[in-house]
Amino acid sequence: MNPDRRAFLVAAGAAGLVAIAPLRARGAPEAVRLVAATARVPLVGGAYPETAMWAYNGTVPGPELRFRQGERARIEVENRLPEPTTVHWHGLRVPNAMDGVPGVTQPPIAPGERFVYEFDLPDAGTFWYHPHANSPGQVGRGLAGAFIVEETAPVAADRDVTWVLSDFRLNADAAVVEDFGNPFDASHAGRIGNTVTLNGRVPDAFAVRAGERIRLRLVNAGNARVFALAFEGHAPWVVALDGHPVDPHPPEDGRVVLGPGMRADLVLDMTGTPAGRYGVFDGFYRNRTYRLVDLAYGADAARAAARQDPPARLPDNPVPEPDLARAQRHVIELGGGMMDPRMMRAMREGGGMAAMSAMRERMQRGHVWSLNGVSVAGHAHAPLLTLKRGSSHVIEIVNDTAWHHPMHLHGMTFRIIARNGQPPRRRVLADTALLDPGERVAIAFVAEPGTWMFHCHILEHQESGMMGAIEVG
Ligand code: C2O
Ligand code: CU
Ligand code: CU
Repeated sequence: MNPDRRAFLVAAGAAGLVAIAPLRARGAPEAVRLVAATARVPLVGGAYPETAMWAYNGTVPGPELRFRQGERARIEVENRLPEPTTVHWHGLRVPNAMDGVPGVTQPPIAPGERFVYEFDLPDAGTFWYHPHANSPGQVGRGLAGAFIVEETAPVAADRDVTWVLSDFRLNADAAVVEDFGNPFDASHAGRIGNTVTLNGRVPDAFAVRAGERIRLRLVNAGNARVFALAFEGHAPWVVALDGHPVDPHPPEDGRVVLGPGMRADLVLDMTGTPAGRYGVFDGFYRNRTYRLVDLAYGADAARAAARQDPPARLPDNPVPEPDLARAQRHVIELGGGMMDPRMMRAMREGGGMAAMSAMRERMQRGHVWSLNGVSVAGHAHAPLLTLKRGSSHVIEIVNDTAWHHPMHLHGMTFRIIARNGQPPRRRVLADTALLDPGERVAIAFVAEPGTWMFHCHILEHQESGMMGAIEVG
């Protein structure tokens, strides 16, 4: 790993406790305002200079938007960036016209212009928002924020905390490295940064109190980094994934795995000792485990013994249930990238040279990845699938590449019904499914009207061909 990040993590000691100051944007019907503009942000802290970034309302991440389930959100976005933008409400089931896809669901918001988004909030949970125009460059410069929809009946926890996890590529002066869109990132794992942030700061410690029960909402807002979090000395419960309730369970293999775009809600009981410090480690990439942040206990004794009982299941959201018996079946095959297995097979069988030069030619045009053999640029293109509204569908996503891909579907929350042909251990609703190299994942959903993007949430993959549209008429 780049040595810079270690320097940043060490330097951050001086920055002290992680500040969490969400804007409580409760209260439809007046509009919440989001202004996207350049800003200087003390991302690294310590002796490092502030970082010139792009930000919503001057902060990275942007303000935490909070509504209550059943409310109507009205959000006015003003673009003061030097280029067009849009805002996409990731995971929220909004009408297609509010989905924020430039050239498909709306014209891009030009510099100096505004756009008002307005939609109902049928689902409670942890969601987020980010631009959908030049996503690698705009998210990679800081534009992203949490979007929380609270359940109507409150959930038993002493605190409700959000950690927006992100990952930036900075130089030694803490400035954003402007190598967006380079072919190496595009054809490998994406723009993995050297500076991991928690709520927009290189974190040092997160202050906790012995005995408290925290609802911890995790959002992976990074361009490309996958997180796999382990909580030293603690036993979290996973209570929701991508905003939707699951039966509370300990994380599989003790790690909470979050691809870009994904969320998890945890219930974390503070069973540690007063004045203790416990690490939260991210160990997704082999041999690159690092200490993300410490849970730092105050000196006070617990007022009561920490709870350890499983939390109650959160109430289900009204997501339509696909009819699996009648569902239409589709396959979407992910292809391309470095060490392309198809290429390797062609090499073995002889025709390698032709395949190789065809690949080089595609890559030079920025078409690194493909869905069902088609590699597109931009958002508007012939649909991958055309479906009838109200009908049920199963898509088998086949990862015929050597890389991980968090595949995200707009507008239609899906059920994950199989991995490599095996039913999952528990019922999971999601908007993003992380596929390992070679893996197959089957998702099922009910088609909602509109033109919906289906893409890899590694933004450099999305931008270089790993995106398609699903049209529902
Ligand atoms: Cu969060 Cu189309 O993306
Ligand atoms: Cu989305
Ligand atoms: Cu990908």
